[in-house]
Amino acid sequence: MKKSVNFGVIGCGLMGREFASASLRWAHLTGGIPAPRIVGVCDPDAGACRWFAENVPTVEHVTGDYRALLARDDVEAVYCAVPHNLHEEIYCAVIRAGKHLLGEKPFGIDRAANANILRAVAEHPELVVRCASEFPYFPGCQQLIRWIEENKFGRIIEVRAGFYHSSDMDLNKPVNWKRRVETNGAYGCMGDLGVHTQHVPFRAGWRVKNVFAKLSNIVTERPDGKGGTAPCDTWDNAVLVCDAETDGYEFPMILETKRMSPGSTNEWYITVHGLSCSAKFTTNDPNAFFYTQSWDHEQAWCRVGIGCKPLFPTITGGIFEFGFSDAILQMWAAYMLEMSGEPAAFGCFTPEETRLSHSLLDAACLSHEEGRKVDL
Ligand SMILES: NC(=O)c1ccc[n+]([C@@H]2O[C@H](COP(=O)([O-])OP(=O)(O)OC[C@H]3O[C@@H](n4cnc5c(N)ncnc54)[C@H](O)[C@@H]3O)[C@@H](O)[C@H]2O)c1
Repeated sequence: MKKSVNFGVIGCGLMGREFASASLRWAHLTGGIPAPRIVGVCDPDAGACRWFAENVPTVEHVTGDYRALLARDDVEAVYCAVPHNLHEEIYCAVIRAGKHLLGEKPFGIDRAANANILRAVAEHPELVVRCASEFPYFPGCQQLIRWIEENKFGRIIEVRAGFYHSSDMDLNKPVNWKRRVETNGAYGCMGDLGVHTQHVPFRAGWRVKNVFAKLSNIVTERPDGKGGTAPCDTWDNAVLVCDAETDGYEFPMILETKRMSPGSTNEWYITVHGLSCSAKFTTNDPNAFFYTQSWDHEQAWCRVGIGCKPLFPTITGGIFEFGFSDAILQMWAAYMLEMSGEPAAFGCFTPEETRLSHSLLDAACLSHEEGRKVDL
């Protein structure tokens, strides 16, 4: 039998349920990785808790108060997926209660909140604290990451990474906490989507030196869900043009996060152009890895069907397709390995990387406000 770790879930919404589902299909992984076992859940919304009570047989404790969950000795680790305005208070409380934490991005509503969370992390070096980011675990992206590690691209010409949604194109979509500065934060779409674009570039060691940002609030009002309208004051789209540095030279890096990208459905991509070769991965074509081959002076873009060859082996045959919930399972495998003290070939987004993320997003806000390039 695999060893298991008892988890509490704080925030039983969209992402809380994804974790529950991943924990319930741990048998999918073949590597003997310790399994998360959800023993307690917390959400002030009784309906959200009920889903867990009905679907997760290991749940013994249900509460609306996270303090009650953290007081339990049988909870060893916590997954926390709550609105951004609650990250600082709850993440600090989890860490100071001596529990391991996988928190959600942006890991604090703003830079000051993130700094306070990192202070709590520093007080507890014995705990494994990480931030969720699952897209790099698609096999096509893992292939691209291996090529970065093998220096296959040669001198980097340019890097682009982005995350596009389009559901906000529906102007009748009611406002929610993700579309209000008070609960989502002043970063807007960057706070919601930015970490996803940063994980691979930061891990590659590409150091962001400065940023010029163009932020757009395209829709300023939305239905409030009660027959009226409410302000929608967050940035819908953000384009960050950065200078990044590696091996003593600079190259342009463009990071885009958009809630209003016509036709996009959770479209996450990364493209690396290099002098030796180039490659790209997009969740629009999740089974594919694109790369260039050179013929004399010309380059041809090739597409290989990469299949299901994830970082952490599973029971799924190599010819089958890989999807979002598989990426979530892989991210959790990485976290559980890191928690058990084993190295993960590609680990989860670290607290230090969340600090870099906040310094970039903070600089992007200033850049847009003042209409100039801002150094980090
Ligand atoms: N990794 C990803 O791909 C991904 C995707 C979506 C959201 N997220 C992140 O996950 C987090 C949650 O987003 P979501 O989409 O699951 O939101 P959601 O609105 O679906 O769920 C949030 C839950 O938190 C609960 N909550 C509110 N106050 C609480 C409190 N005091 N204690 C406990 N629970 C409380 C709400 O009742 C709700 O059920 C955010 O940080 C968001 O940025 C990550």
